[in-house]
Amino acid sequence: MDIGIFSICYSGYGRFALRWCEAIARSAIQPTQVTIALFGCEHGLTDEISAKCKEVLPQLRIVHGGERTNMGEMRNVAVGETHTEWIQLVSIDDILLPNAIREFEKHDKEDVDVIACAYIEEMISGAERILEVPNTFDRAAILNWRHYWLSPFSPFRRSLWEERPYADCEYPNYPFAFDLARDGVKFAVVDEPCVRYIRRARSHSKIKTKEEYSAIEEMLDEYTGISKNDAIRYWQDELKKLDGGKKMPDIYQERYLKHQEAKKNRSATEPRNEYSDKEIMTLFKIMHNRRSQRIFNDEVIDGDRMNGIMKAAALAPSSCNRRAVRPQIISTNKSKSELEKFLVGGKGWIDKANIIILLLADMLAYKSQNEVDFMLYLDAGFVAQNIYLAGEALGVGACFVNPNVREEDMYEFSSLFIPKGHRFCGALALGCYDLREAKSGE
Ligand SMILES: Cc1cc2nc3c(=O)[nH]c(=O)nc-3n(C[C@H](O)[C@H](O)[C@H](O)COP(=O)(O)O)c2cc1C
Repeated sequence: MDIGIFSICYSGYGRFALRWCEAIARSAIQPTQVTIALFGCEHGLTDEISAKCKEVLPQLRIVHGGERTNMGEMRNVAVGETHTEWIQLVSIDDILLPNAIREFEKHDKEDVDVIACAYIEEMISGAERILEVPNTFDRAAILNWRHYWLSPFSPFRRSLWEERPYADCEYPNYPFAFDLARDGVKFAVVDEPCVRYIRRARSHSKIKTKEEYSAIEEMLDEYTGISKNDAIRYWQDELKKLDGGKKMPDIYQERYLKHQEAKKNRSATEPRNEYSDKEIMTLFKIMHNRRSQRIFNDEVIDGDRMNGIMKAAALAPSSCNRRAVRPQIISTNKSKSELEKFLVGGKGWIDKANIIILLLADMLAYKSQNEVDFMLYLDAGFVAQNIYLAGEALGVGACFVNPNVREEDMYEFSSLFIPKGHRFCGALALGCYDLREAKSGE
């Protein structure tokens, strides 16, 4: 795939450049070109850092773009210096994830112009969430910009940018997406997160006052040509006009249909696995020894064991194979203390866990009224059991916490921890331990 990654660098952000380059260097597939455009004299990218960056990333070009202007203009300078078929923005203080380009490559086809990708948002508290690709992305949806968001990290064809570069303004993400939608470009979806977006206290998107925010809203309304009051009506009318629109696939529906299709054409082609007596004994030993652990030491669960636990969660079976319950990792002391307050079953101990995993069901997947009351909880139960068993095998203590939150805490809990359209199905506390709790009932 002929893809170039670009970033702009000003106001001391050069201090992040080496980390940015190292992340790109770890990419499973390398981009053809990488560009950093520097602005002003205070960019912070010293000769020493530049040399190190070029060492880890030989295809890196560092260009001087003159004085700091605005985001849109500066991005245009950087893209102007990047001569690849596909272009991707990764902000200099964010991180490209290793599989991103491999995922993009699957969509490098003639009928695709933009690869809408999910990303991980790392909040200032250290909590994380995955920002998924919207499930519809037609012209009308994007014009209703308050409810839809296209990740600015989504790669696009350079030819699109040539026709309509970034808008000459400080907040060009929405205008850029509007233009793509207006031009009716063809979108593909990557629902695996491709970038880690790291928020910081004074990051560009966080420093707006209320007045500045209103001014931006006004600017965007002007750009879309609709006022706030007309937005919803406009959107509905537009939807009616579009004969189906350019619908983004609903990933859960796709998985569901694939599953139904596979069931119809059921065939058995793979041989039975043979397990040795020792392997079978190990499985039973793990099931037998597993227990709920609520007393933890201060040790941090290392990355390998955490990966093992997340892998186990992903291997759980799910209703119609929709895999709609996702584990959300909570690791900061502040968030853990808040959860201790909210989760009735974790009172008095859960804040001492090293990590709390919230099991969140994406309600988009549970369409039928018949299943919304129970299916997500069943799915979550299977995920939880896999985590319990992997935890036992890896020496990580785990305890499930039921989803009970007091009525009076519900609003605060949901606004802090539960993304829109999701439902909380329970949590798991995880941590290392010195001694085990006695097994229940023994
Ligand atoms: C659906 C479910 C809900 C649970 N909720 C809680 C809880 O809120 N708080 C807690 O400390 N343990 C909770 N547990 C852990 C149980 O208390 C524990 O599994 C049970 O006592 C058996 O002990 P063992 O896990 O050590 O075998 C829950 C377990 C399950 C399966």
